[in-house]
Amino acid sequence: MVARRLADDQVQPASFAFNNDNAKWAEWKIGLYPAGRQQSAVIPLLMRAQEQDGWVSRASIEKVAEMLGMAYIRVLEVATFYTQFQLQPVGTRAHVQVCGTTPCQLRGAEGLIEVCKSKIHHDPHHLNADGTMSWEEVECAGACVNAPMVTIFKDTYEDLTEDRLAEIIDAFAAGKGETITPGPQIGRLNAAPEGGRVVLLEEATTYREKFVPPAPPPEAAPAAPAAAAPATAAPAQAPTTAAKPKDVTEESAPAIKGPSKDAKVSEAKAEGERKAADTSAKANGEPNKAMRETATGAETDASKIDGGKAPGKATTNATADGATEASPKKTRTIIAPKANPKEVNPVAEKGGDAPLFVAPEGPADDLKLVSGVGPVLERRLNALGITRWSQVAALTPEQIDQVEGSLNFRGRVARDNWLQQAEVLARGGEEEYVRVFGKKPR
Ligand code: FES
Repeated sequence: MVARRLADDQVQPASFAFNNDNAKWAEWKIGLYPAGRQQSAVIPLLMRAQEQDGWVSRASIEKVAEMLGMAYIRVLEVATFYTQFQLQPVGTRAHVQVCGTTPCQLRGAEGLIEVCKSKIHHDPHHLNADGTMSWEEVECAGACVNAPMVTIFKDTYEDLTEDRLAEIIDAFAAGKGETITPGPQIGRLNAAPEGGRVVLLEEATTYREKFVPPAPPPEAAPAAPAAAAPATAAPAQAPTTAAKPKDVTEESAPAIKGPSKDAKVSEAKAEGERKAADTSAKANGEPNKAMRETATGAETDASKIDGGKAPGKATTNATADGATEASPKKTRTIIAPKANPKEVNPVAEKGGDAPLFVAPEGPADDLKLVSGVGPVLERRLNALGITRWSQVAALTPEQIDQVEGSLNFRGRVARDNWLQQAEVLARGGEEEYVRVFGKKPR
């Protein structure tokens, strides 16, 4: 591990201050933490200071300590611990961090360091002749599976050879770093095997798309099931032993002690079918349909035991005839409420992504440019009627509550600062986003 110290006094600025945009951002960031926990913002603020000046100076550490009410030494400890913080000026076009930890070393990191020495500077932490490039050796950056690798600012470049790193350094030195695609440099997908994926070949889908059947159109909706009980039967009600007529003896109501023999056979048969379905599904690589039906309440145990007849029958009979009140069917009806759809799919329980807004006409904005919104969230926001950045920016607290409730992502809007991001995007698109936030969206 390399000793990490602050830069020499000659290069340290006398003072540091966040510019207006960053000062507003820092105020918002600090406000995200509960009272008394503002010190948790130390890493984001140090990162913002680095993004503003290119490196973390002593003055910026003092400023962050002052803003968060921390001792200077505590912020210094953080800044000197993480190699993501540059403690002295680095190349304006690229600062190449070569991982020198064992997996990368075994896969050629020493050769990459030689490339940096020959193309940038013989020594780490030194700028090249025109001050645009620098390099250093760092510890594991977490991309070991694609070793060897380097990090340049916030991007990683993996599966490197010496020749490929030389090309990458040349591109950055020429101010054309954006022409190099970060990530694996051998065409593999993320950390998938070099020859391509061998598992998880299915297209990604949401739980809802894959498992929840679409609702039938209103005209095709099945008619409400006819009452299975005689017209004279009393309304169905939850059976309890307390409702047993007083003149019914234990002899006349033997089932109160437990399910009848027939019911036990039926129940065992139903359970056997469920297990068989489960085993078959697993063998085919499919989800456990039997469990799913039970979990979503699509089919109660009572109806299964009853051969698929109307679920209310057992309860109705029980009410109409006290002697059969404690029949096996009633016993199963009592335990059926264990199926709680909320535990499985709270969004579906709330009616799914029913529109909350009227979507504006015209082309939709790319909501995925808002950090924190991925393809799935974008689809669901669109389903709610939100298709424009300006709509997101104008959300009121009540609407945020509705949206988060529907998405089942409480606190997501504030946590990822959707409103400010969307406001900036609506005002000037990606260019404005880069100007305000100092980085490209997503
Ligand atoms: S060892 Fe190099 S990224 Fe982990």
